[in-house]
Amino acid sequence: MLDDDKDVRRDDRYATTQKYASLRGIRATARKNLSDMVWNYMHCGTGDEVTARANVAAFDDYLFEAPLFAGVANPDTSTRVLGHDLSFPAFTAPFGGGETLFHPDGMCAVGRAAHAAGIKQFVPVAAGHSLEEVRAASPAALVFQLTFVGEEAQVIDMMHRAKDAGYEYICVTYSPIRQWRERMMEDRFSMPGAGKPANFGPDTSDPAMLQELLDFTRPRWSWDQAARVIAASPLPCIIKGVTCRADATAALKAGAQGLYVSNYGGRTIDREPASISTLADVRDEAGPDVTVVFDSGIRRGSDIATALALGADAVLLGRTCALGLAADGEAGVQRVLDLLRDEFWTTLGHLGCSSVSDLSPAVFRSRL
Ligand SMILES: Cc1cc2nc3c(=O)[nH]c(=O)nc-3n(C[C@H](O)[C@H](O)[C@H](O)COP(=O)(O)O)c2cc1C
Repeated sequence: MLDDDKDVRRDDRYATTQKYASLRGIRATARKNLSDMVWNYMHCGTGDEVTARANVAAFDDYLFEAPLFAGVANPDTSTRVLGHDLSFPAFTAPFGGGETLFHPDGMCAVGRAAHAAGIKQFVPVAAGHSLEEVRAASPAALVFQLTFVGEEAQVIDMMHRAKDAGYEYICVTYSPIRQWRERMMEDRFSMPGAGKPANFGPDTSDPAMLQELLDFTRPRWSWDQAARVIAASPLPCIIKGVTCRADATAALKAGAQGLYVSNYGGRTIDREPASISTLADVRDEAGPDVTVVFDSGIRRGSDIATALALGADAVLLGRTCALGLAADGEAGVQRVLDLLRDEFWTTLGHLGCSSVSDLSPAVFRSRL
């Protein structure tokens, strides 16, 4: 007989009754469910995919030193980031422009799973459901990711639309030109109806903005322009894609309220350094008070501990959540989140950390 919540959680951790015992099982099911083309779309990087691989492999360079007789029995995985309590330091990442090919409920399913797991969601502008639909699906939809493209007025309009729908932050992204993704080129990947972004079109927003998003036809934006739009934003902005000290400084100067360290999982340009290797510099440049979130390469609960020890306030989960979505929709994402939280819990306990705030570079063997 299970007598309290703690024991229920322990049962869950050892997965005796769960459909998926581990993330490996979820990945295997996702692979079976998806065509080669959609699998390649989910996993591809750019060029030789050096950066996409390095993002994951680089976590192996950070080795822990778990102190003997210092373990903690029931560490607290919860934290507070962007003004909200999270059951563990994670958000679901904005992955759009095809996520309904993984599961027709797309970002709505991701949001509901995030809510059930006690975390929040970043919602992509390129989602197959409109920003209003995703927000209505669950209160986890906290941050709206918006690419700076098209006219400034259009971008500001979209920011107001996000605020009206109930979002509390804008995640600013920017890509100067289209990406070189050879797996998609070889597959002649095309977006069937299911993958069509819902935030653009005659009923919602200027279709020209979508066209530009797809075509990269106009001159690109500058930091001055970005600063102007951030100043006009009705919501605080977090800038994504910060991977060096110079970008951290420029982003804060442009009015960013938070920094999002990411190389988009190696999906924009190849031969950038592994994202985790850039995090400590960004935190150092930003100082202790700025919110810094991190993604690219998080595959395990122990990776979350590594990112926090190097200065992140929370991580974002991209492909790892996408696999859950492809395996089993909302239930699959929820299982991914439960497994990651529970593995993070054991990592904290073995490292002798009773809470998230105990994580620091001191947990590493090499004392990085
Ligand atoms: C299929 C897919 C679609 C994505 N679409 C977007 C997007 O629309 N907007 C965005 O900011 N990032 C997008 N990303 C990047 C993710 O938000 C995140 O930065 C990346 O997945 C992190 O790398 P990881 O998945 O290897 O951990 C996408 C990623 C994937 C895998």
